[in-house]
Amino acid sequence: MAVDVLLGLQWGDEGKGKIVDVFAPKYDIVARFQGGPNAGHTIVFDGKKFVLHLIPSGIFHPNTACLIGNGVVIDPVTLKKEVETLIKAGIPVREHLLISRKAHLILPTHKLLDAAREERRGEQKIGSTLRGIGPTYSDKIGRAGIRVGDIELSDFQERYAGAVNGHKEFLDMYGYQYDLTTWQAEFDDAIEFLRSLKLVDSEHYLHEAQEAGKKILAEGAQGTLLDIDFGSYPFVTSSTTTTAGACTGLGIAPGSIGRVFGIFKAYCTRVGSGPFPTELHGEEGDELRRAGGEFGATTGRPRRTGWLDLPALKYAVRINGVTDLIMMKADVLQIRSEIKVGEAYRHQGQLRYDLPYSLEDGQLEPVWRSFPGWEEDITGVRRASEVPHALREYVNWLEQEIGVPITYLSVGPDRAQTLEMHSNEAVSPRGFDF
Ligand code: GDP
Ligand code: IMO
Ligand code: MG
Repeated sequence: MAVDVLLGLQWGDEGKGKIVDVFAPKYDIVARFQGGPNAGHTIVFDGKKFVLHLIPSGIFHPNTACLIGNGVVIDPVTLKKEVETLIKAGIPVREHLLISRKAHLILPTHKLLDAAREERRGEQKIGSTLRGIGPTYSDKIGRAGIRVGDIELSDFQERYAGAVNGHKEFLDMYGYQYDLTTWQAEFDDAIEFLRSLKLVDSEHYLHEAQEAGKKILAEGAQGTLLDIDFGSYPFVTSSTTTTAGACTGLGIAPGSIGRVFGIFKAYCTRVGSGPFPTELHGEEGDELRRAGGEFGATTGRPRRTGWLDLPALKYAVRINGVTDLIMMKADVLQIRSEIKVGEAYRHQGQLRYDLPYSLEDGQLEPVWRSFPGWEEDITGVRRASEVPHALREYVNWLEQEIGVPITYLSVGPDRAQTLEMHSNEAVSPRGFDF
């Protein structure tokens, strides 16, 4: 059975969590394939709101198993808190959550290193969430990491001490002041907790599930423009956020990838540093931030806002082999009488429709195309036939430019505020039927 993939096409926070939750009833397994607690995936239903950092967004559906794959980096402290919060809310997490033994662990000293390295970058700082992501992936690639499966080995403590001593040498070299006492106690406690969860050899688990005809959805974190290879380097995260990451982060063969759902906002946001060619500054940007509630789900930082960047979106669609587009937060733009899209760039005196090597601010001037706004409340729209004409025109134009259908549209944060664009059937508020 093919594995479907759902991922972000921009700089993260596109609304992946919401759509994974909407799709989950139709899948037997939802598997996160990369990233770590830098992610914040928001799910809203029945008047409740949850933000997940590590646990896959399928966890609210009783018949869906949730796997944290080998490509994810896990902070056991965050995981423990998240599991406990969900159990308190009545979600039977322990029964549905599986964790790959090959996933790497974020140690307290990884978080210290993240902070120390950001501080040293000064003006050039990445704007990291400081969750230890970069240092943990560096250790993984440098063959010095600690994996979840190591906690079951008799020499775990020696392995752990070896890694920590290595980190301390760097921290001392940087002259970084720290006190590990509280973090260490929390970490030890969280490792005990982790031992009580279901640890699995996830690639075997997924292969057997595929052979048994189970439906699997791979859930991405961050977005394509934050990808370590294809994002706005060095202002990126440290993992492969693209479809290829689902193969390495789960052990799925490239040929078994099925549909690829690419999620994008009807506009654009970015949190952290780095270039953002279509960014809106001043009151226009603030207005969009307020209307979209654009504050980070993990750090609470205000998100930078701007118009849709078409060359970047086309690039992301190609890199990922997107088969279905999903447009989010169309309701937010109802505040505007005019909608803009950056349809090309002016770069070194030339018109460019693709993404240049460097996106450095100031070197790229967007070429704008304007659309009339829909200026009406669409948060109650549930069928394609109810979509206002102006929004339908915007969607049609994007589909034509990109060459991929916009299959679903989201008109609010709630699970129920989702509609199919190419069918006039209303979607069940419990989730989609493909
Ligand atoms: P993720 O990281 O991709 O899962 O996205 P986040 O949860 O970080 O950010 C998306 C934010 O937009 C969350 O606050 C969601 O509740 C909210 N959201 C998702 N879809 C919609 C939508 O269609 N309209 C509005 N207004 N909000 C939405
Ligand atoms: P979700 O899954 C938005 C950004 C950070 C920073 C850069 C590197 O919720 O979409 P890191 O902590 O990985 O070293 O930070 O990446 N970033 C995100 N931005 N959404 C996310 O995740 C992000 N995860 C990391 O702000 O600019
Ligand atoms: Mg998020």
